[in-house]
Amino acid sequence: MFRAPGRVNLIGEHTDYNLGFVLPVAIGLKCLTASAESGDGWIRIYADDLAAGTQVHLDSLRDAQPREDWTDYVIGVARGLERSGYPLAGCNILIRSSVPQGAGLSSSAALEVAMALALTAVDDRLALAKICRDAEADFVGVPCGIMDQFASVFCESGSALLLDCRTLEQKTVRIPEGATLLAVNSGVRHAVGTSAYRKRVEECAEAVRAIRAMDPRVETLRDATPLHLRLEMRALVMRRARHVVSENARVLDFVAAAERGDVEELGRLMNASHQSLGSDYEVSCPELDALADVARQVDGVYGARMTGAGFGGCIVVLIEENAVPEFEARVPAEYFRRCGKVAEIYRCHPSAGAGELE
Ligand code: GLA
Repeated sequence: MFRAPGRVNLIGEHTDYNLGFVLPVAIGLKCLTASAESGDGWIRIYADDLAAGTQVHLDSLRDAQPREDWTDYVIGVARGLERSGYPLAGCNILIRSSVPQGAGLSSSAALEVAMALALTAVDDRLALAKICRDAEADFVGVPCGIMDQFASVFCESGSALLLDCRTLEQKTVRIPEGATLLAVNSGVRHAVGTSAYRKRVEECAEAVRAIRAMDPRVETLRDATPLHLRLEMRALVMRRARHVVSENARVLDFVAAAERGDVEELGRLMNASHQSLGSDYEVSCPELDALADVARQVDGVYGARMTGAGFGGCIVVLIEENAVPEFEARVPAEYFRRCGKVAEIYRCHPSAGAGELE
């Protein structure tokens, strides 16, 4: 039996595919898999939560085609492992997940990683994260970065993980004593998510082309500075680039503030990130804005921002530990009054990355 956690990203949104910085925390919500050899060359998968299953024979794995449903994640991972030369045997796999879907908490990465562990022994943890990421990009068809799969594999209990998405260098970062993290689900799941995500990836590439015409040293938006934003490019593309450039700087400022225990500054940076994601990157939505606003009204909240790809899903909140009961009492009621939706709150204790279940 294996487990792989979901994650909440503290700051560094839409920076991973621009090879910038991210700061995720693995959370207690996780995907579990149990696996037993079938001995007949079939991989059979049953997802308990969905009361649905799928199967594929090892002989036809190589040519498997996406079906545009949840099975793409699991078949994509199996195909990726086989293509990378990992030995696969027929097996029966049971999946059970507590990571809510479409909430921006990385239910798909948790599923991919837990699935990979159930299929074969992968000692190389970096290869594990990359195969799962590639399954999502190549088979599922979402051109995502490495953050979610990396977080599910590498996060450590008690800390957030600063990742440089270019070099894949990582460093643990502690949340200051007395402060804690909440994820709050807006209950909104926007259908435009995938196509808008792809569009943002393209807009960032357009910004890079515009900048490179003048400064060929810039290979990705990771290399861009505020000065590059003055170069000739479409206004919309400039705003996308401005988010990425400013967000990368905020991640590094956040880490420095966490190290000196400056919780007020952490909150300020989170609020600024939310603002930038809304106005420059345009991936927020009215409910996420309202929820972040309602959260900030509670005494003891340092900051709140949308987390994950956007267009719905969760906000992440940095809050004084003692203020959590007050938050739980007030925020769902006020959010319901403003948006008519039920907000679910998850306490996020930084958890360990994926592994065998003890
Ligand atoms: C999704 C993707 C990640 C990342 C975030 C936005 O979670 O899977 O790679 O791009 O959106 O930061």
